[in-house]
Amino acid sequence: SFDFFITIIAAYLIGSVNFAILVSRTKDLPDPRTQGSHNPGATNVYRIAGKSTAGKVLALDVIKGIVPTWGSYYLGFTPMEIGFTAIACCLGHMFPVFFRFQGGKAVATALGCLLPVGVSLGLVLLLAWIAVFKITGYSSLAAIISVGISPIATYFIAPKYLLPVTMLAVFIILRHIPNILRLLRGEEPKSRQRL
Ligand code: G3P
Repeated sequence: SFDFFITIIAAYLIGSVNFAILVSRTKDLPDPRTQGSHNPGATNVYRIAGKSTAGKVLALDVIKGIVPTWGSYYLGFTPMEIGFTAIACCLGHMFPVFFRFQGGKAVATALGCLLPVGVSLGLVLLLAWIAVFKITGYSSLAAIISVGISPIATYFIAPKYLLPVTMLAVFIILRHIPNILRLLRGEEPKSRQRL
């Protein structure tokens, strides 16, 4: 439908607003695309600027994910349509029209997308992320594992969303290929250590 088309475009545009870049700009910090892992996300802002700035980026990226999925849920779209709205938002974060299509990996944004439709699913995956991060210190590994188990968790907790969650998981894992290669080579920086 036309409403759905507009919602997808709006979700993509909202996703394209990159808070790692914008918050860094307002604080006169270097562009996260030029430092550390070069990824414009909360993890890399943590390396560059520390906890409080990274916390702001994380919160804003999660809220950015909540808005379009909550909106499409509120508008009465089907689970499949809500799922594709979430994917459009995350693709906006990964390939932002406002930043030469150089975006982030959409981990925080995807978590935000899950919350309005599957609070318990979102919390389970968040706990998995926290556990892996506490044990290993790698933000990327925490994302890869929690995103990797997300289709299984969705199958049991919110099966209506299995297809879009699996598609989104594939996109996010593909965005982590450089991290996976660095992890295998033992060259991935722990997220706590500054580069
Ligand atoms: O959320 C992104 C994270 O999984 C990896 O970030 O900067 O270590 O590539 P980074």
